[in-house]
Amino acid sequence: MFKIIIGMMCLVLAIFFGTPMMVSGEEPEDIMSLPLGKIIIEPPKSVTPKRPPSFLTHSLHFGYKCTVCHHTWEYNTQIKACMAPECHELTVAPKKSKKSDADPPPMIMYYMRAYHKQCIICHLELKRDNLALEMSFKVLKEKLPPTGPTGCIECHPKEEE
Ligand code: HEC
Ligand code: HEC
Ligand code: HEC
Repeated sequence: MFKIIIGMMCLVLAIFFGTPMMVSGEEPEDIMSLPLGKIIIEPPKSVTPKRPPSFLTHSLHFGYKCTVCHHTWEYNTQIKACMAPECHELTVAPKKSKKSDADPPPMIMYYMRAYHKQCIICHLELKRDNLALEMSFKVLKEKLPPTGPTGCIECHPKEEE
């Protein structure tokens, strides 16, 4: 009798906790996988690149709020790619057309501008803050915090490491 009760309890527990995973064979929409390591950022396929692809180590940036970079994310959805449609999808810098009076789309829709603006500006500001610290002539007890690259070759390295 005791065994049967235990058995029934297990069955009830299995049904109770098992349900969410039994929905279908596909990855559920409410699970998002998070890349931790090196993310290689390549230009859109239609672009003939002038530089080797850029990269960042995702987890080295987790000291910031995710929405500093994923600025349209509202936490309950999958994160969109930066160059997704209607986002930073333009493959050439927008120019005002001579034929029409319409304003060109905003420059930030050009993927290169979006990346350079977000990535380089933060690294530059960090370098500026470190420089200000060095120039303050205070005795610095700790090493200056790391900043991130601002040089072309650092972000578009020639060879694979
Ligand atoms: C410094 C900027 C930055 C920060 C901060 C950041 N990410 Fe990212 N993340 C990126 C970039 C760049 C990509 C590559 C996007 C692409 O290829 O379009 C990416 C990709 C992703 C992807 C994969 C998206 C896909 O298209 O498959 C996920 C998921 C993600 N990030 C989650 C997070 C979470 C969660 C956080 C906060 C803990 C976070 N990110 C913080 C820059 C950042
Ligand atoms: C809000 C500030 C911020 C933004 C935005 C940001 N970074 Fe950084 N980045 C940092 C900091 C801080 C470091 C130093 C991290 C460390 O070494 O611990 C860093 C380091 C790096 C490094 C060297 C270490 C590594 O392998 O990641 C690369 C490459 C880099 N960033 C690329 C990018 C790219 C590409 C983007 C845009 C998609 C970006 N970063 C956006 C703050 C930022
Ligand atoms: C903080 C990192 C970072 C720095 C510094 C940086 N870039 Fe980029 N750049 C990127 C990212 C990210 C992209 C978009 C992905 C890609 O194309 O590699 C990009 C795209 C480009 C593109 C368009 C794609 C191509 O290869 O034609 C060019 C050109 C470019 N960068 C040139 C430069 C030059 C020149 C400098 C120095 C003045 C520079 N970048 C500095 C991160 C950086």
